[in-house]
Parts: sequence; C-alpha cells; structure tokens
Amino acid sequence: MAGRIPQTFINDLLDRVDIVDVVDARMKLRKTGKNYSGLCPFHDEKTPSFTVSPDKQFFHCFGCQENGTALTFIMKFDRLEFVEAVEVLARQVGVEVPREKGARPKPQTDPGLYDVLSQAERYYRQNLRQFSSAVEYLKGRGVSGEVARDFGIGYAPEGWQNLEENIPGLSTKLLLDAGLSIKNDKGRVYDRFRDRIMFPIRDTRGRVIGFGGRTLGGGEGQGPKYLNSPETEVFHKGTELYGLYEARRALRKIDKLIVVEGYMDVVALAQHGFANAVATLGTATGEAHFHKLYRVADEVVCCFDGDQAGRQAAWRALESALGVLNEHRQLKFVFLPEGEDPDTLVRQSGKGALQKHLDHATPGLEFLFARLSDGLDLNTLDGQAKLAGLVNPYIDKVQEGLLKDLLRQKVADLTGAGALTGRGRGNPGSSRPRQQSGAGRGHMDKLRQRLMTLLVKAPMWWHEVPQGTQSALLEHCEELGLLGDLVKYVDQNEAVDTEELLVRWSDHPAYEDLLTRAQGVSVIDETAQRADFIEGMGRLEELVLTAHRRKALSALKESPNLEELRKYWQLRGS
Ligand code: UTP
Ligand code: MN
Repeated sequence: MAGRIPQTFINDLLDRVDIVDVVDARMKLRKTGKNYSGLCPFHDEKTPSFTVSPDKQFFHCFGCQENGTALTFIMKFDRLEFVEAVEVLARQVGVEVPREKGARPKPQTDPGLYDVLSQAERYYRQNLRQFSSAVEYLKGRGVSGEVARDFGIGYAPEGWQNLEENIPGLSTKLLLDAGLSIKNDKGRVYDRFRDRIMFPIRDTRGRVIGFGGRTLGGGEGQGPKYLNSPETEVFHKGTELYGLYEARRALRKIDKLIVVEGYMDVVALAQHGFANAVATLGTATGEAHFHKLYRVADEVVCCFDGDQAGRQAAWRALESALGVLNEHRQLKFVFLPEGEDPDTLVRQSGKGALQKHLDHATPGLEFLFARLSDGLDLNTLDGQAKLAGLVNPYIDKVQEGLLKDLLRQKVADLTGAGALTGRGRGNPGSSRPRQQSGAGRGHMDKLRQRLMTLLVKAPMWWHEVPQGTQSALLEHCEELGLLGDLVKYVDQNEAVDTEELLVRWSDHPAYEDLLTRAQGVSVIDETAQRADFIEGMGRLEELVLTAHRRKALSALKESPNLEELRKYWQLRGS
C-alpha cells in the first residue's frame, strides 16, 4: 500500500476546488438564490431536493439525506474509493497526490505507459471502421455498432510495425513496457497484436491497461484464438476484470454482477441488456477479484460451463471467495448446458433463457455442501463425521461473523452434535456466552460517551484506528446510535473537522450536546487522549461484537431469524 494521504493535502485540495463546479460537471444544476439545486442523483425524484451550497462547500439532499463535500460527491457519483476520488480532484487541479512517508512508496509508474495504451486503443478503434472484414466479423456475432463503441472494440490490422508507423512519437521502450510490442531473439521489435479484433481492458478509472485480441476466424495458423497483453506495470490479470468499468458506467446501481469466462460473453450480454457482466482475463477467479466484485455489488453470480472444466473453475472460485464472503455477500453459480456459453445462449435463446438460469442459480454454500457430501452417506455417523471433517477447513476460511456461525450450526445439525457448543474450534465468541450484566451495559454506555466527545473534538483520530476495528464498528454502526452516525460520517469524509461535523449536525436534536462536547474538553494531553481514543475504539469493538454474536446465536437457536438466514443462503437444516 502507498502511504496515507496527508490531511493537510486534502484540506488544501478542497480549498482549491469549488464544489459547484464539481457537481455541475456531472449533473444539471440551477441557481436558486444563494445556493444551487437539482434533481438528486442518489435517489429517484421528480422535484429537486438536492442543494449545493457554495458558501459551505457542501451538498445536501433533503429527500434522501445524502450529503458531504466535493470529495464525497465524487466518490458517490463516480463510485470511487476515497483515494481514487482524491486523485480525480487532484488531477482536475493539476497537482500530484503526496503520500506520507513510512509506508512503502507507490512504485513510480511511467505516465507514458497509460498514454501509449490509450493511443493504441484509439488507433485500433479507428481501424475498425476501415476494415470491413473486422466489422463483418462483429456483425456476424451480433455485436451492434453502439455496443462496439461502448466497449471501445477495435481492430489491429495485419503487419509487423503498424503501431510505430501509424502513431508518431512512440518510443520502442514504452511499446515494449506496455506489452504492445515483442522483441525477438534477434532484437527485432514487432507488434504483438496482428489481424485481431481488439478488446481494450480498463481499470476502474477507465484507463486502458491492456488488451485482449481475437483472431477473425477460428482457423489454424493464426496463433491462439485469444491473445492477451502480458503482465505489465499497470496490467495485473489477478486483480482486473474485463467490463467492470463499462458496467459501472452504464448502471447507476449494481445489485448483482455476473462473472463469465470470455470477452465475447461480456459483450454479448451487454448487447442483450445485461450490462452487469464481467470476465476474468483467461485466469481463475481469485480472491482479489472477489474483493473487487463485492466492493461493487452484494451478489456475484459466476456463470460457467456445465462441463467438468466449468465445475472445476466454479469450485476454485468458491474456494477463493470464502474469505471474502459474509452474511451480506451472496455467491451463486450458474452451470450452463454443455457446449453453451453465455454468448451462444443469449444469441440463440434470448435474454429470458439466461435470466431463467440466473433465477435458478445454485447458492455457493449449497454447492460446497453438495460437493463435499458427494459419495458420503449422511444417514450414518461415519458419513456425518467425514463431512464435518471435510467442511470444517472451508468454514475456517470464512470471516468471524453471522455467516460463519450459521455454517457451524449447519455442520452441527448435519452431524447431529449438540449445536453451538463451539466444539473447541477456537472460537470463544461462539461458545455459550455469559449473561450480560447490567454493569456491562453501563460500561458500554460510558465508553460510548467518552469516545463521542473525543471523536467530536478530533475526528481525524478515527483514521488512526486499526482497519479491522474500523470495519467492525462500521458494520455495526446502527447499534451505536449517534456515535455510530458520527463514525460513519467521519469515515466517509476523511477531511472532516470539528466545525464541519457541527455544521452537518446543526439541525440534529443532539446539536447542543455535540457543541458542548466540542467546547468542553480542553486538550490537556493530546497524546494520551489520542491513545485513549484508539484503545477505547478497540474495546468498543469487542463489546459490540460480543453483544452481536450473542444476539445472533440466540436468534440462530430459536428465532425465525435462522430460517430467514437459511432461506437467504438456501441452506436447509437437517
Ligand atoms: P473460450 O475459449 O471459452 O472462448 O475462452 P470464448 O469466450 O467462447 O470465445 P469465442 O466465443 O470463441 O470468441 C474464454 C476466455 O479464455 C481466454 C480469453 O480470456 C477468453 O475470453 N482465452 C481463450 C485465452 O486467453 N486464450 C485462448 O486462446 C483462448
Ligand atoms: Mn464463446
């Protein structure tokens, strides 16, 4: 990871842009008195309740309560991570994003690399129109001009030196570094992609980072059917997904992402109204892919061939996903009939045919249990014990939480063992908890009060809380009341200071209270208070998680919640 972006830089950056410009560049704004207003981009509405205040450099929607700074707006509107949003703003202002020392500095990427890739993309795209064979090929596969344009599909003509001859000023070194050219044993440099349909691969910011190239025919003597860019400084097959940028651009909100195997599958699905398809780049779907996928959507459906290879790919995908799954994140599988892929399916049988498969997708955990119990007789103790032995290592990979508890419960049910005893599997949280005493509750309240005061006083300390604690608390912030709201806000708005926090809460019943807190504590010993804050957050995490697990477990034991969860995962108890 690169170092943290210094707070002062973010403040300066926000000082240098006008939120009105930032918003206005992305949606229609109208001046209404001192402020600007428009239709809120974050919820459906007919009359504008979205306002931007140039004085406060703040936006606010009275309809859905979304609000924040220019940075927040970019994050939400462009669907970017915080750091990405900072980079967008910085680029707009024309400054470099500095990183604090300490962490490993980001390797310096030659900006020329992106440049050369984007020039190549333009060149390939322009060629497409001039080569009727390429256009005919795409037409033959049912790809419309519009979809070809959306994906920036192009054509690399025959020939060995096209890039150098047609794009002036390209250095050989950059062409090689970008993976666009190859150097042979004799030192001769030539174009990697020749006589191929070109699919540009973009990162989440839309920059071209590599290509996939397909031969026009299926014939021999043209090399492999698909040729991909090699790994380069900017192109990493283990993390990138073809079509993710295009999906996020086409869709405001993505509930579900469909993972398919090929470039043409992504394009064909977009052509048939599934703009939410992505593909790995001829590699297995790994954990890094799932991290990326679940950042965008809560449900991922892997759509693989129904043959042996497809099932094997699905299994490997499931194994990689386990560490990323939780009770909010669904993973499902569609196994297509032998010989079909998503492209042929939608083209021959239409959108509805694929939709039907998606509606009947197999939940990942059902797949897990089904596959592991294959060949076991679960009516015998021996079979049950074997299944437990097989499945436990997989459950171990799942993060602590409700999903893991559910899986443990499922194993306990299957094996007929007493449920919820923890079975010494190293999860003290899951063993029967002590009764929560009144004192425990009081302790939590006191801690919450103290942390709230410190947070109001010094919001930036939140960013020093360890990541694990942060995400645990964010996940449960509803249970923390006002403190939870504050934490969530501070987390999403890295630049926030006491004043902005107060402005934001000025209409809130707790405003007076917050104001008193902000003014009340004089910073006597900043170092000690900061340590107290960070350590206190850690303790709060423990308290919250314990309380939560306790609730979850009793729900799992007797309330219909278990049924709901099971339904959610379509995991039947036995
Ligand atoms: P497939 O062989 O399943 O092809 O490759 P496809 O997607 O159905 O291709 P069409 O429909 O004939 O055009 C799936 C993916 O595997 C990688 C590519 O990423 C491709 O999209 N692949 C395939 C390669 O990298 N090289 C190859 O030679 C073949
Ligand atoms: Mn295909």
